[in-house]
Amino acid sequence: MSLVLDPAAQDLLFREARTANTFTDEPVTDEQVQAIYDLVKYGPTAFNQSPLRITLVRSPEARERLVQHMAEGNRPKTAAAPLVAILSADNEFHEELPQLFPHFPQAKDAFFSERPVREGAAALNAAMQAAYFIVGVRAAGLAAGPMTGLDFDGVRKEFLDDDHTPLMVVNIGRPGPDAWFPRSPRLAYEQVVTTV
Ligand SMILES: Cc1cc2nc3c(=O)[nH]c(=O)nc-3n(C[C@H](O)[C@H](O)[C@H](O)COP(=O)(O)O)c2cc1C
Repeated sequence: MSLVLDPAAQDLLFREARTANTFTDEPVTDEQVQAIYDLVKYGPTAFNQSPLRITLVRSPEARERLVQHMAEGNRPKTAAAPLVAILSADNEFHEELPQLFPHFPQAKDAFFSERPVREGAAALNAAMQAAYFIVGVRAAGLAAGPMTGLDFDGVRKEFLDDDHTPLMVVNIGRPGPDAWFPRSPRLAYEQVVTTV
């Protein structure tokens, strides 16, 4: 009774949403990805810095190159998913800050002139946006399979540059046969929440 979100939407986004390991061959279109992005871009980040960058791996040749950098157990599903996205953090996000935080354009130089500071901020805030993205995939009626079992240096060199830090690779599509492992337990409220 405490949640105002429609119970069906709660199920779609969380209770019945699962991490898919197999997919049907139904394509995931650019229009679907754009709808997902145009929803989840509103998720909050510090200074509205929005450092997440998304690389859609569409060509078979690029997919093959990516699969080589995945951990052994992640290769078959990365090769078979209808769409695969590399999520990365843009460590030069401050260049967009005057556009993204127009009421305080000095933030770019006042807070983010040093690269190590930007890398820390980008890692946290892009990871938050990656989580929003996964929930957005679910909002589109699709399943996501996020993976960090991969050679990050290899993915960076192959697909990105020194200004971008890969965070994870996400398989996207409709779940196929035997798409998931049994649901693992979650921590109970009492194990997680303390009040001071
Ligand atoms: C950031 C992140 C990295 C993950 N990396 C992998 C991975 O490399 N390989 C894999 O098979 N599953 C990976 N997973 C999937 C998790 O094991 C899965 O989401 C978790 O067990 C919950 O499963 P459920 O959503 O089906 O309940 C990853 C999930 C997240 C969010």
